[in-house]
Amino acid sequence: MSSTAILGCMWGDEAKAKIVDVLGANADIVVRFQGGSNAGHTIIIDNDKYILHMVPSGIVNPKIICVIAPGVVLNPFEMIDEMQGLKERGVDFSNRLLIDPRANLVLDLHKDLDCKSEQGTNGNKIGTTKRGIGPAYADAVARTGLKIYHLYDEVTLKSMLIQIYQSHDRNLTETELKEIVEELQVAAEYLKPYVKQTPYYLNEQIKAGKEIIFEGAQGSLLDITYGSYPYVTSSHTVSGGISIGCGVPPNKINKIIGVYKSYFTRVGEGPFPTELLDKTGDQIRTQGHEFGSTTGRPRRCGWFDAVASGYTAMLNGVDEMALTLLDVLTGVGDVKICTGYKYKDEIIKEFPAEVRILAEVEPVYEEMPGWEEDISSLTEFDALPQNAKNYIKRIEELLGIPATIISVGPDRKQTIFR
Ligand code: IMP
Repeated sequence: MSSTAILGCMWGDEAKAKIVDVLGANADIVVRFQGGSNAGHTIIIDNDKYILHMVPSGIVNPKIICVIAPGVVLNPFEMIDEMQGLKERGVDFSNRLLIDPRANLVLDLHKDLDCKSEQGTNGNKIGTTKRGIGPAYADAVARTGLKIYHLYDEVTLKSMLIQIYQSHDRNLTETELKEIVEELQVAAEYLKPYVKQTPYYLNEQIKAGKEIIFEGAQGSLLDITYGSYPYVTSSHTVSGGISIGCGVPPNKINKIIGVYKSYFTRVGEGPFPTELLDKTGDQIRTQGHEFGSTTGRPRRCGWFDAVASGYTAMLNGVDEMALTLLDVLTGVGDVKICTGYKYKDEIIKEFPAEVRILAEVEPVYEEMPGWEEDISSLTEFDALPQNAKNYIKRIEELLGIPATIISVGPDRKQTIFR
């Protein structure tokens, strides 16, 4: 029995949820440890599509218990909407969801602040999902944030709301305060049966030998410390964030699976060295349905970047790679892998700390022959076209990690295990 982390190792949207779903067949518990409703996790089961933002991907498997750990920022209204939608589709939540009382709340105020700063008048546009994630984490760190447990203490709730609004130079009238408190209290009642300390639960379950999956949201290159700052999200998306986010010590995490797409994508602002602003980029976007599941924005597409991928493999301690969306590269012609960055007259192999340098580097490519065959129904590695096999092997070689799972389509069944 073991615990496994499934982490996005790019700029998000690596098809992590599909991998969680596929590996979840043997899991007991799936845990979200960071992020919030900025995530958009898509699972397809026999043509049935689920897009999850807050609820862990394990929910579609009735035998799995889902945990929202303290490191997540939770918008109670969006959470309830999502739960209602899932219930209408037959998903049963009874005894299957735990929400930690320490999780910080995302309020309408935070969404509003996020939208305002994204209007770009101060030149700070990040291209966020406008879900209020950054402002909610900022309040948490400023020690003014509201937590789930505050919802159950009316006096504290009221005084903290006044304090939060004031800290953002906003005054609440008595009526506004009353309305906000009432709405939050209704949400609190709905969520009450699920609120439970999750670090105790998770550590007990680990002791009992249960199979646990830590489901990452976003990707390592969006990590608040290690990503392409400031064009990042506001949480720790790397494996180190798991322990902080859910109170499970590092020595209890047995395996790290890094999820990499077969090409790169990015949504929002920020440098992207291998971005393709040509027909091939458009073809990848179309074939890969590369439009954000949270915002609907078209994703920027580009070649596989082995410099950035090697960096995230190192940061996370990736043991095995899940290489996803390989089918999307069918028919794009020759494929390229970036193996270094040219900066001024030097070739650099390290992902730059400074976003200014990342914006100036030129990718150095290795070109390989592509493939034309439809690979979306293959279930054996050996059945893949030789050029696809060569491409995978070269990525494995460059990262020094085996690709043990290869995804050739969105459905559970479209998966090759090695
Ligand atoms: P925020 O997380 O909404 O604050 O957005 C910060 C940056 O992270 C923006 O570039 C977003 O596009 C990006 N981002 C946030 N969540 C996701 C995700 O789930 N997939 C891909 N990018 C994301």
